Parts: sequence; C-alpha cells; structure tokens
Amino acid sequence: MLIDTFGRRAVDLRVSLTDRCNLRCTYCMPEQGLAWLPKPQLLTDAEIVRLVRIAVADLGVSEVRFTGGEPLVRPGVVGIVAACAQLTPRPELSLTTNGIGLARTATALREAGLDRVNVSLDTLDRETFHTLTRRDRLPDVIAGLAAADAAGLRPVKVNTVLMRGVNDGQAADLLGWCLERGYELRFIEQMPLDAQHGWDRSTMVTAEEILALLSERFTLVPEPDERRGAAPAERWLVEGFTAADGAPARVGVIASVTRPFCRACDRTRLTADGQIRNCLFATSETDLRGALREGGSDLEIAELWRKAMWGKKAGAGIDNPDFAQPERPMSAIGG
Ligand code: 5AD
Ligand code: SF4
Repeated sequence: MLIDTFGRRAVDLRVSLTDRCNLRCTYCMPEQGLAWLPKPQLLTDAEIVRLVRIAVADLGVSEVRFTGGEPLVRPGVVGIVAACAQLTPRPELSLTTNGIGLARTATALREAGLDRVNVSLDTLDRETFHTLTRRDRLPDVIAGLAAADAAGLRPVKVNTVLMRGVNDGQAADLLGWCLERGYELRFIEQMPLDAQHGWDRSTMVTAEEILALLSERFTLVPEPDERRGAAPAERWLVEGFTAADGAPARVGVIASVTRPFCRACDRTRLTADGQIRNCLFATSETDLRGALREGGSDLEIAELWRKAMWGKKAGAGIDNPDFAQPERPMSAIGG
C-alpha cells in the first residue's frame, strides 16, 4: 500500500505521458513552448506499463489517469491504455486532454479500455480561445468532446480555468452549454504552476466568485458532503437540469487555492521521465527510471515508491505566505 505519515492512502495514480503540448495556454506555458524533456529520459511505453502494473498489482492503486502535457500527442497512447486495461485487478482508466486529437482517437481509446475523459475548455468564444491558448483550435475541441460522448467515454467532464477579465464573463454560458449536452463541468481555481511563474493571487477567480457568477443564471444546491470522498471537486446540483444518465445535473468547483483538500488527497504521480511526485506541489521527486534501467526488481521499485509516498507533506498551502512554487511546471508534472 502507498500510505503516508498522516494516514492517507494513495489509490489514484496520475501518469504524465509527455510534457509536450499542441496548445500554449497562457496560464501554463510561454508562447514559444518549453525546453521539452530529452527523448532518452522519457519512459518507454513498456516502462510505463510496467510501473503501472507494479502500482496496481503490488501497491493498491485502483485508478489510473493519463495526463500530459497533452497525452494524445504521445504516439503510443492507445497501446498504453490497452495494456493497462489488461492488468489484474483492472484499474479504472481515464485521461485528461485538451480535446485536440480526440475526434480522431476517441473510438480507439474506448475500444482499448479507456473508461472516461476530462477535456479542458475555458471558453466557447473562438477569439477568446485563440487568445488564451494561442492557437485557433476551438472547433477541434468541440468535435473532440462530441466524439468522446459518442464513443461512450462517459460521463464526459469539462475542466475550466477562469481568469479575471479574460473568460470570467463566460462562466454561466459554459455551464449552460455543458448542461445542454450532458457534460459535467468543473471549474478549477488557477494554481501557481505556470512555467513563467506569472501566477498572481489577485487575477485568480476564487470558488466563491465562481459560484456567484453561476448563481446569476442558475440555482445551485450543495451536494451532501459524504458523496465527495477524495474527489477534489465540491459539487452542486443544478436545479431543473438532468444529466445524460437521468440523475440530477451537477457542476463542480475545485478550490485548490482557497479551500485545499490535501487532507483527503489519495494521489500519487508519475512524470513522463519516470519520477514519482507525492504532491503536485512537492519540491522533491523519487527517481524510478534509474532503478528500472539498472535492472531493479518489482519489489525494489515498489519499495522506492512506498518510501516516496511515506514522506508526503500534510499540505501545499498555496495561500500561505511561505508557499514556494515547484520547479517543474504543470505540463511536466501532469495535471
Ligand atoms: N491552474 C489550474 N489548472 C490548470 N490547468 C493547467 N494549468 C493550470 C493551472 N495553473 C488545468 C488544465 C487542465 C487540467 C489538467 O489542469 O486546464 O484542465
Ligand atoms: Fe497544453 Fe494543458 Fe498546458 Fe494548455 S494547460 S498548454 S492544453 S498542457
């Protein structure tokens, strides 16, 4: 098991398949992109599958989410999903994507065994999308969402980051659009994980503001807390709307900054270059790639992973004055 000194158990593994991306969201990367990880440092497809197998078979991990960068730019993504779906016990498999390339891959991913997707979408306005991501790709993302839904990668979830003066005026429009299509929308407070270190508390739109913006058009009823578990999103039922499965429609808010959920965190993270991070905001990592390539046994690797998680800190404390942003940006850690 992967437990820490605070009694938390990590059962949810996030695997970053690549640090590269075909968008340049302003809250993530500079216009020119980043110095990508050199190829020899990246885990191979087989190495990723072996580490996931160890996590699932020996360490009690039951959910695996593939992230990036943009995971769909990795050529082997469908094969990696297929191999992970063959593991015993079979983990739940999901993927966080910017949606570009999903129109092309959704059916293959579903057939490979993927259960669900989260698609990042911050605006429905083509101009705003272009400004925010520095690429004119909104139609691809919308087509990707439709393809995911048609392929049965449900419930389709949409992730939105709001920025003051950029897209905060579009929050209610986004919710209306998602409700119409049966997508579950979750807003994420902007976190200090951008490569440029340009995060500023004052431009971040807080959970409280998000709820106020939505309440101008919708009636939100808090979902009972006992349904939350380790999920980072606090959820609200949207009165008068039903989801695709007939259940009441929901909207979520992930208040990583103003209402951190570290006490219930059940995550462990593997970067594309084979490092374990016990927290998004960890300042140190544990190298598994070296152990893998030096011929380490499953037992030895599992032991390194356990040690890495045992040292997990109580919380990140983004809102504390002494908070230090991690060296790696979000795109190299995995969302
Ligand atoms: N703060 C909050 N969310 C972010 N994402 C990327 N960078 C940040 C940030 N600095 C989001 C993406 C995607 C998910 C993986 O995380 O929009 O939906
Ligand atoms: Fe790419 Fe996601 Fe970063 Fe946007 S936030 S540039 S989609 S990795």
